Amino acid sequence: MEEKVALVTGASRGIGAATAIRLARDGCAVAVNYLHDLKGAEAVVAKIRALGQRAVALQADVGEPEQARKLIQQAAEGLGGLQILVNNAGYSQHAAIEGLKLEDWERMLRIGLTAAFVCAQAAIPYMREAGWGRIVNVASLRAMTGSDHGAHYASAKAGIIGLTKSLALELAKYKITVNAVAPGYTRTEMTREALEKHSAEIAAKIPLGRPAEPEEIAAVIAFLASDEASYITGETINANGGIYMR
Ligand SMILES: NC(=O)c1ccc[n+]([C@@H]2O[C@H](COP(=O)([O-])OP(=O)(O)OC[C@H]3O[C@@H](n4cnc5c(N)ncnc54)[C@H](OP(=O)(O)O)[C@@H]3O)[C@@H](O)[C@H]2O)c1
Repeated sequence: MEEKVALVTGASRGIGAATAIRLARDGCAVAVNYLHDLKGAEAVVAKIRALGQRAVALQADVGEPEQARKLIQQAAEGLGGLQILVNNAGYSQHAAIEGLKLEDWERMLRIGLTAAFVCAQAAIPYMREAGWGRIVNVASLRAMTGSDHGAHYASAKAGIIGLTKSLALELAKYKITVNAVAPGYTRTEMTREALEKHSAEIAAKIPLGRPAEPEEIAAVIAFLASDEASYITGETINANGGIYMR
């Protein structure tokens, strides 16, 4: 495909890093956002450059609206426009509902949901200018199942699906599609401890018998971000090894 510019939030490791590299392989210049891990982001940038694509590492806390807006602007100005936005940044937190602090709830919603809205809103003018756009939001299996000891996480992720459909309805007229991917267990830092402690138990719940590798989720995101997915919008693709059916 002709070169497009993509921004992946939370791309210093895990699903975001795999997505940034995959999009570069598919022909994109990529802005690699990170929060703390400059080294991780620089390693991703180096891999992208080794593929012959342009890349830049951009620090920003997407949970801070001013920083999120500046991030979009820096990506677009640094790489020459912005056609693809992947709202991936996120974290999980184990918290019983009775002890869940309001500040923890609000922080989760800010980073897990509000950030996707702010980034998408700021990206629209660049996509309109290009006459083409793709927004892919990373939701979660937990949006559908709820989360035992993660009400704030599941609520943010369920919100992502509503946001995805709403943006899809409003932006279709600009040839901007908006979709979500809902991963199940994926082998990243986020799940490392759980997968170390409960590997067999988790694998037994998954019809495919194993967690996903980040590259398998990146492949779905890259498809939704491609020209090939031109007639899909407002959709959430479950990539969870079939766990949803159990
Ligand atoms: N792993 C799973 O099983 C799974 C399942 C379903 C959904 N997901 C979703 O997939 C997405 C990626 O998860 P992952 O498993 O790849 O997690 P991960 O390995 O923990 O990586 C999280 C990434 O997000 C970045 N980040 C966190 N807070 C940020 C903020 N406020 N601003 C900017 N960047 C921020 C981190 O940056 P730094 O490293 O610089 O701090 C890191 O690059 C998340 O939305 C997560 O909820 C994951």
